[in-house]
Amino acid sequence: MILITDEEFKLLNDFIAQKCGIYYHEKQKYIFQQKLVKRLEKNCLKDFKEYYYLLKYNPSLEELQQLYNNLTVNETYFFREKEHPIALRDLIIPEMIKSRPNRVIKILSAGCSTGEEAYSLSILLHNKLKNPEKNIKIIGIDISQKAVEIALSAIYRKISLTFRSTTPDDIKKYFNSETETHNLKDNIKSFVKFKQGNLFEEKTFDIVDKYDVIFCRNVMIYFSKAHKQQLIDTFYKVLNPQGYLIVSHTENLSDVKSNFSVIKKDNCFMYQKN
Ligand SMILES: C[S@@+](CC[C@H](N)C(=O)[O-])C[C@H]1O[C@@H](n2cnc3c(N)ncnc32)[C@H](O)[C@@H]1O
Repeated sequence: MILITDEEFKLLNDFIAQKCGIYYHEKQKYIFQQKLVKRLEKNCLKDFKEYYYLLKYNPSLEELQQLYNNLTVNETYFFREKEHPIALRDLIIPEMIKSRPNRVIKILSAGCSTGEEAYSLSILLHNKLKNPEKNIKIIGIDISQKAVEIALSAIYRKISLTFRSTTPDDIKKYFNSETETHNLKDNIKSFVKFKQGNLFEEKTFDIVDKYDVIFCRNVMIYFSKAHKQQLIDTFYKVLNPQGYLIVSHTENLSDVKSNFSVIKKDNCFMYQKN
């Protein structure tokens, strides 16, 4: 087994954080080593310094994708922290439709992982609106190609923890069940798009002009404060005026500077662009 030295850990960790924000703490060094050691073996490299040089000077797209697939934590599940999605359905969307009835509301799931957050929004809005395809566009973006492929397939293993908050009734209503999987129905998939992309690259946000709501939950917890600040500035830029940024219940923006206002709706805190 190839072990990582303190110097190699610092070099690689700083380099990766610079590229995509993800930052491992000193005490997670061995997890980091474990997640990447197979890439050294695959590339016939003798130590982590060689891997650092490969990534810095000669990275193939395939190697970068493998790096992100290995380093990211993709844990997610349907209807996670449902209060925010419900506030979106019952308060934010009606308010936006009322102010501009013919607009298309663009919702971003930033760091969407395998798609459950974006599809949970889709299920809730599908129930609420007569023609969700006409009024709503949901876009999921994640840096992990492997996660995005699962999101696009919309096929989820029955034994996975992803259905821990889904009722049997909802599974029946929104999924076609096979022997080992629940497959999301086409009408729920139809207004959700996914893209592999890095939130630290400007071109990632190009799919639409500006967003109305951004969900970015359980993503910035893996970033350094400086990268969190950078991402918050990007979100402010790509949101429409009065647009919302929604983070998880355990996150907040108190450690970064921003012009967002804190808004409380139905016991949920969220951030609004001025
Ligand atoms: C723990 S999951 C959160 C999924 C979902 N938002 C939720 O709350 O259930 C974090 C996701 O953020 C993604 N991620 C991390 N850094 C990213 C970056 N720079 N660009 C895009 N996605 C990123 C990871 O690949 C991972 O799938």
